[in-house]
Amino acid sequence: MLSPMRIVGISGSLRRGSLNRSLLTAAVERAPAPMHIEAHGIDGIPLYDGDLEAASGVPEAVTRLKDAVATADGLLLVTPEYNQSIPGVFKNAIDWMSRPGSDIARVFGGKPVGLIGASPGRMGTISSQTAWLPVFRSLALVPYLGRTVYVSAAGEAFQNGVLASAMVDKLLSDYLTGLRDFVATRG
Ligand code: FNR
Repeated sequence: MLSPMRIVGISGSLRRGSLNRSLLTAAVERAPAPMHIEAHGIDGIPLYDGDLEAASGVPEAVTRLKDAVATADGLLLVTPEYNQSIPGVFKNAIDWMSRPGSDIARVFGGKPVGLIGASPGRMGTISSQTAWLPVFRSLALVPYLGRTVYVSAAGEAFQNGVLASAMVDKLLSDYLTGLRDFVATRG
């Protein structure tokens, strides 16, 4: 019997019709055994403000997400791209999760992380995925670099929130298998 593998997936858009939320859902549905992907969002997280943190600590929504990541075998970020970089709302959520700094090692330290993303454009989040790499270094996350999933023209790949492209389906499934094997070797 293979031991279960729990991956926390976080999609980085607040939009109801988010393509990246749809991509995370597709990943949840395709997770190869014994990998289980738990889908999370970034809703309910305020803008980071050091005064707010000093007055009332880390918000409840952030604490819940931190604890989910801390107890997981790995992390999967599903990133949109704004102006060829990381959308502020997603970076804000990860910034909050890195507070207090003394908790970074417990939550992120040495944890394997996968990164995928979707955009309606031609380049399919290549630039924002590259922009995440220094963040991973800062948090001592260990990125899976074996394969890539850059979903371009994502408005066509997803129909009513459901993955409809056989090509992306294969790319995503192969990526998840690679991520599973990467996480397993680090366990
Ligand atoms: C975008 N978009 C975008 N897309 C892209 O591929 N490269 C880019 O640099 C940008 N820049 C950008 C800036 C801003 C401010 C917005 C609002 C949008 C388009 C973006 O990929 C598209 O809105 C996606 O649908 C966002 O992801 P979700 O919300 O569908 O997950």
